Amino acid sequence: MHPAHTNPTPEQVRQQAADLRAQLQHHAHRYYVLDAPEIPDAEYDRLFQSLQALEEQHPGLRTADSPTQRVIGQVLDGLQSIRHAQPMLSIQTETDTTPVGAAGFDARVRRELGLAEDAPAIEYNAELKFDGLAINLRYEDGVLVQAATRGDGETGEDVTQNIRTIGQIPLRLLGTAPAPEVLEVRGEVYMRRDDFERLNQRQREAGHKTYINPRNTAAGAVRQLDPATTAQRPLSFYAYGLGEVVGWTPGHMPTTHSGVLDALQAWGLPVCAERDVVRAAEGLADFHQRMGQHRDTLPFDIDGVVYKVNSLALQRQLGFKTREPRWAVAHKYPAQEQLTQVQAIDVQVGRTGKLTPVAKLAPVFVGGVTVTNATLHNEDEARRKDVRVGDTVIVRRAGDVIPEVVGVLLEQRSGEPAPFTMPSQCPVCGSAAVREAGEVEHRCTGGLFCSAQRKQAILHYAQRRAVDVEGLGDKLVDQLVDAGLIKTLPDLYRLGLTALAGLERMAEKSAANVLQALQASRQTTLPRFLFGLGIRHVGEATAKDLARHFGSLDRIMDASVDALLQVNDVGPVVAQSIRTFFEQPHNREVVEQLRACGVNWPEGEGAQTEPQPLLGKTFVLTGTFPTLKRDEAKELLEAAGAKVAGSVSKKTDYLVAGADAGSKLQKAAELGVPVVDEEQLLAMINTTDSNPS
Ligand code: IVH
Repeated sequence: MHPAHTNPTPEQVRQQAADLRAQLQHHAHRYYVLDAPEIPDAEYDRLFQSLQALEEQHPGLRTADSPTQRVIGQVLDGLQSIRHAQPMLSIQTETDTTPVGAAGFDARVRRELGLAEDAPAIEYNAELKFDGLAINLRYEDGVLVQAATRGDGETGEDVTQNIRTIGQIPLRLLGTAPAPEVLEVRGEVYMRRDDFERLNQRQREAGHKTYINPRNTAAGAVRQLDPATTAQRPLSFYAYGLGEVVGWTPGHMPTTHSGVLDALQAWGLPVCAERDVVRAAEGLADFHQRMGQHRDTLPFDIDGVVYKVNSLALQRQLGFKTREPRWAVAHKYPAQEQLTQVQAIDVQVGRTGKLTPVAKLAPVFVGGVTVTNATLHNEDEARRKDVRVGDTVIVRRAGDVIPEVVGVLLEQRSGEPAPFTMPSQCPVCGSAAVREAGEVEHRCTGGLFCSAQRKQAILHYAQRRAVDVEGLGDKLVDQLVDAGLIKTLPDLYRLGLTALAGLERMAEKSAANVLQALQASRQTTLPRFLFGLGIRHVGEATAKDLARHFGSLDRIMDASVDALLQVNDVGPVVAQSIRTFFEQPHNREVVEQLRACGVNWPEGEGAQTEPQPLLGKTFVLTGTFPTLKRDEAKELLEAAGAKVAGSVSKKTDYLVAGADAGSKLQKAAELGVPVVDEEQLLAMINTTDSNPS
């Protein structure tokens, strides 16, 4: 008989199931932990289905550590209490966020060990402090049998069936090292920021409430009563230590904490690669500083770093103080989230009439600055967050990102404050405020009749990157508009010394300076003037492209939509916006009057004739330069034909880094983007000077 027709023996079937399980475990580890799959998803699915079918036919072969058995169990009434075999300790926190915090810990450790001044430096393992939920995983003979939360440290909650759904956590230890009889692994369940954003995106699309932050969401997901719910949440895990251990083969047992982490990693547990064995206070402070710079580019939140004495023998010698080990400390970073109160919700009017709801906050120090305002963006966003006056809210400011309200503490809301509604009239000029179909924004229809829009239009025109009227700031513009001295842009050039000097807190000298600055601003360039007009969708770059393409203002003013579409980077929306702007008689009038007031620029400048040594190159600027201001560096680069982008990507040709460069430098290093300083930048721009002609 042909072998294919013989029924496999029970032993063969058992072996086949075991092989499939081992293959699936291997590939799941490659996929979830190493992020380096060896086979396509479809192939993984095929193996998975084969095992599922086999287990269907032979239910006796189904084991708890089978990859098919991640989501099992039923909806619980409540979580069971579990007494920890070894208490889950807390950790001492160093809140001095400067290097002094690191030095203090090293000094304490040396004192408690009774070391002399000149004794050798202590070795530490430095790692990240993950912002999630502490979990104890209990493996018996290599199989995950229980997972528990920390609880009060003595007793936690049994969350085994939920933890099993996390693909990164092995249901059976991998690798070749023999598994101890009992191995308790401690670590943190957390949620990556991108997973969190995607989850919230799904919530929004489904019209559900969004989650506040990754930490709370991860903690909530672990404590669900239905494992199927947990399985829907994208959770991750990092191991950082041990609990009870029985029967770790002598000779295999590491003598350092870093060795323990290596062993856990070899068993297939996820261990964060951002860890380092360092020496002395300097090594600790350096790690703290490096990770601090790196913080915003990590894929997950951290609130500090953790230092641990690396030698396990020294750890035993140091021992514990009540509930905290003397051999570890958490060294914090400034908090990126704080609680504060909403004092009011104002509606601000922008240059183009856009109404923006802004939460006025009780001042709070967060992410390194004092925050008093947080934008609520628009009506939909304000409704979704349901922020109301008097609410206690969580404010977040991470990196250079503008502060935002991430959520309301509903349980602290008192009374029934009214929900926010967008006004139907502009709060400044009283004109109708409308939200056009398909738009998220409300706009004041008052145009330049609206003093808020007028003020913004003047500030826009006068800014450094536009026509550049030095000293014309928002306070002065407020006064000029409120006093009725300026209604349209040309009125700027009709200001006299008496009118200006008559304003509150305006000395004759400053008035003269403003007039002088206005005089100087009459001589400008076409791109600056065009940008200064504040045409919707026409930023600096577009203004330059338009000037270069058409060469004169009159040609731009008369250009058809089709002609405009010929310009680099100008699409239908921008083209239409330019066309509409110049079709308005009052806008043409403003341009004519500005010219009549002496505003001028060399025409034909657009036709680029100067050499452009950096044409087509993309630069990113970061840090403080020795001589150039940011805007100046940008201007020089653009004049040389380069593009200046806001963030480092694979498309970046060079990063120009000055003092105190932050995360962009890190990013450039990761992507292999060359980094230059100001001097090198200037040399690159001037290379054409030395070109033999
Ligand atoms: S070690 C005996 N290492 O911080 C020391 N904890 O401990 C026990 N945490 O909620 C903790 N990252 O879950 C340690 N790399 C890390 C950590 C870490 C985060 C959490 C831990 C606990 C809190 C205090």
